Amino acid sequence: MELEQVLHMNGGVGKTSYATNSLHPRAVISLVKPIVNASIEQLCGKLFSDCLKIADLGCSSGPNTLLVVSDIIHNIHAAFQKLNRPYPTIQVFLNDLPGNDFNTVFRSLPGFYKKFEEELKLGPCFITAMPGSFYGRLFPNNSLCIKSHDPLCIWEVVGLKLNDMVLEGLIEDEKLDTFDLPYYAPTTKEVEDVIEAEGSLTLQSLEVLKNDWDSYIKRADGRLDRKARAAVLATDIRAVGEPILATQFGEAAMDDLFRRFEEDVLDHMDRENCQYISLVISLTKKR
Ligand SMILES: C[S@@+](CC[C@H](N)C(=O)[O-])C[C@H]1O[C@@H](n2cnc3c(N)ncnc32)[C@H](O)[C@@H]1O
Repeated sequence: MELEQVLHMNGGVGKTSYATNSLHPRAVISLVKPIVNASIEQLCGKLFSDCLKIADLGCSSGPNTLLVVSDIIHNIHAAFQKLNRPYPTIQVFLNDLPGNDFNTVFRSLPGFYKKFEEELKLGPCFITAMPGSFYGRLFPNNSLCIKSHDPLCIWEVVGLKLNDMVLEGLIEDEKLDTFDLPYYAPTTKEVEDVIEAEGSLTLQSLEVLKNDWDSYIKRADGRLDRKARAAVLATDIRAVGEPILATQFGEAAMDDLFRRFEEDVLDHMDRENCQYISLVISLTKKR
């Protein structure tokens, strides 16, 4: 089966859903906020359209989806207010793969619009979805103003656990051999080189943020001990990885896999300085 058909976060709002387990990206969103805000302020001084178009590539479904959009819109309004210009109309395209739980996102839109237009008295806003892979063409040429994008993960540790399960005969050897998870963490130099080689974008800024694996969990609840933080981290990764892993190895293996994974996360945190790295990149299109 094509990766794009099976890759999506755990849907709904249950215990292992992405919506309930997306604290980590939320922490990254708040870390990068000042950088995004500064880019938006700069950009708004140069945009003279009555309708600004924003795309969130890899929006997922859950509290973060509309959080990013609402932060961006707030910043646009603040920038226009500073420039003494009337608020623009905002059009938002939420993009993710077709398996994403867009229904949950759509259900939350009426409340979102109400807050924006009635309570905050902000300009009109129209949100739509653009399902498909962001590696392909999603939009007509020259049709977007702002894009935001942020996938991440710690897949290597899940890989180690799958190997253990093969050794113990719990999953078939062949299933592991034919499993291909195309995950690649580039260096900053590789990112810069790709941008340069592609040629149509100018790199405005590239910042590297390093944080301990469990720092966002400590911030959210300082009472949790290391074991409890490892459990939260493992469930967060489950919310992201389960659909693709279950498609290959079967639903039945998932509880066992993620129980082992949780032990491994704790073990890694005990022995190593485990950090995740986020690259925050601001690009503008060359004229
Ligand atoms: C770690 S989640 C981040 C979700 C959300 N932006 C947040 O902050 O919580 C990454 C998202 O990117 C999506 N994604 C991965 N590859 C994609 C692709 N090729 N095209 C579109 N979306 C993709 C995944 O389905 C997932 O929802």
